[in-house]
Amino acid sequence: MDRSKSIELLNRAIADELQAIHQYLYWHFHLEDQGLLPLAVLFRKTAVEEMGHLSQLAERVLFLKGDVDMNPAGPVERITDPEEIVRKAAAMESQSADDYNDAAKLCGEHADSASKQLFETLVADEERHFDAFDTRLDHIKAFGPQYLALESFQNNQGDAPAGQ
Ligand SMILES: [Fe+2]
Ligand SMILES: [Fe+2]
Repeated sequence: MDRSKSIELLNRAIADELQAIHQYLYWHFHLEDQGLLPLAVLFRKTAVEEMGHLSQLAERVLFLKGDVDMNPAGPVERITDPEEIVRKAAAMESQSADDYNDAAKLCGEHADSASKQLFETLVADEERHFDAFDTRLDHIKAFGPQYLALESFQNNQGDAPAGQ
């Protein structure tokens, strides 16, 4: 097993997860400020799941005797238009799923089954995240750009976050 190759792939994923966490929290704050609560809550929930990914990746790096590189892959993009946010988030998730599929394949090629398995689990999660954003894009297409505001009115009581 080539530990250094695995550590490099895992740290690249850590950088992507950190960037997603920062970006999603930024969007959570802005969407909450705009009164688009269900979408704001979705971004907070997704950011928490990305933190779970970050932990799993960091644990694996340390198990392989590497060090965790805690630098995000890039700066937060100042996108605040709700439709643009959802479009960008869907693209980020789709890219993550592709990257982790590649990483799983590479880990398999150098006989690191546990890292391969971890990346495969992450692929399934990122595809689920993609689906949540992509479904909203479909709804915007079907019902118009006001869909996100309508969703907000409809879920005003039912979806309100507890103990925020
Ligand atoms: Fe993730
Ligand atoms: Fe994700």
